[in-house]
Amino acid sequence: MSLNDLTEKITRREAKLAVIGLGYVGLPVAALFAKAGFDVLGVEIKQERVDKINAGLSPIEGEEPGLAQLLAEQVTQGRLRAAADYETLRERDVILIDVETPVDDQHIPRYEALRAALTQLAPVLKRGALVIVESTIAPRTMDTVVRPLLEEGSGMRVNRDFYLGNCPERVMPGRLLTNLSSLSRVVGGGTPETAQAMIALYRLIVQADLDAADWITAELVKTVENAYRDVQIAFANEVGLICEALGGDVWTVRELVNKSPQRHMHLPGAGVGGHCIPKDPWLLAHGIQGMDVPLRMVPTARAINDGMPAHMVDLLSKALAQAGVSLAGARVLVLGYAYLENSDDTRNSPSAVLVRLLESLGADVRIHDPYVEGMQGDVVEAAQGADAVVLMVRHQAYNALDLPQLRAAMRTPVLVDGRKAVDGRRARELGFLYWVVGAASPAAAS
Ligand SMILES: NC(=O)c1ccc[n+]([C@@H]2O[C@H](COP(=O)([O-])OP(=O)(O)OC[C@H]3O[C@@H](n4cnc5c(N)ncnc54)[C@H](O)[C@@H]3O)[C@@H](O)[C@H]2O)c1
Repeated sequence: MSLNDLTEKITRREAKLAVIGLGYVGLPVAALFAKAGFDVLGVEIKQERVDKINAGLSPIEGEEPGLAQLLAEQVTQGRLRAAADYETLRERDVILIDVETPVDDQHIPRYEALRAALTQLAPVLKRGALVIVESTIAPRTMDTVVRPLLEEGSGMRVNRDFYLGNCPERVMPGRLLTNLSSLSRVVGGGTPETAQAMIALYRLIVQADLDAADWITAELVKTVENAYRDVQIAFANEVGLICEALGGDVWTVRELVNKSPQRHMHLPGAGVGGHCIPKDPWLLAHGIQGMDVPLRMVPTARAINDGMPAHMVDLLSKALAQAGVSLAGARVLVLGYAYLENSDDTRNSPSAVLVRLLESLGADVRIHDPYVEGMQGDVVEAAQGADAVVLMVRHQAYNALDLPQLRAAMRTPVLVDGRKAVDGRRARELGFLYWVVGAASPAAAS
């Protein structure tokens, strides 16, 4: 099939689609293309996920507006189904790849999932099909990993026998469907014509700019935009540490800095987590491995942001000392275990680092998270007898914390806020020893 024929098939919504990897990204993508009128097959290695999806149930917890309903509708109407078997991909005209692409302890990409997906796809790849990698990948991965695995495994040549593109996702958990349809995309094609065929496809679900590009540009834009965010957050965190030392308040400083033209200072916080921001800067760094390019900003930003949970421990231990309690043996309630507000996603969670550190220092830690299985329940009950509460995630539920009840339940009223989620003045009026990241401690302030 020529690219023109494929484009026409796409426009008529007669192309058969597949999505490999039905996680936070792949599942909503599959559901939206099904809603747009395509026959969509999802291939997923986790059998329980396959079964759940085929039963019309979303495996993604947390506040994900519209997803559960959309999935149920599309499965019931027969436009979307899942399978664990790659054989089912033989007749597919367009295959999107949405598997995870983490990095290891040494910050090297772990492409096991990507390689497995490509290796299994290649022998069943239909001549004339379009394969699009949506996963985030290091610059040059299309050329050095994706293309060779598909060509070798299929015996076919890209741009002649099949077509290949990279169209990275920009979604955030909590807004998956809205982000997918409303955020612009960089559409990297193996050739300009492939990019145009990809645009014809994405136009059917995206109401925003679709910018045609080549592979390297698409790979760079995605990893750079997340490295940019990491660096900006690191800057805000560093200013927070400066403010703590100087008796200032980063939250006020930031607000006033942003009144100056062209200043867009980010929010500081208790750490950066998730499947994207902590690892995408390392994917960018990996792209220049072996080249003579000094890399300074990216590792520094990563180190600052990775250090924030330890800084929270430091604040907590100082706040407890002010109350005459030692961290060893203190009962600490951690609020929020997901990496993001109103989400169940715990990947690279700063709270996990905090909990490990606290336990290693002898604290007796309890964790509460309204979205994470096994951590749910009543906050005030969880705070019974606690010496300190550490707020790590700004879940909606924590905006409505009943401070007087919380105070009454606790043994020692220490409250350390990593997100400025609590009204500090009120907390102090109620007798809390309230500390917030990025601002002078109550003792220093008085
Ligand atoms: N989560 C986000 O907010 C987000 C945003 C933008 C981009 N991304 C990128 O999108 C990609 C996917 O991220 P995610 O958050 O959806 O990951 P995820 O872990 O939620 O989903 C990946 C899914 O792929 C499945 N899988 C793994 N190997 C497979 C294989 N060989 N065959 C079939 N299925 C397989 C896994 O079981 C899992 O369900 C990553 O590259 C990520 O960096 C994620």
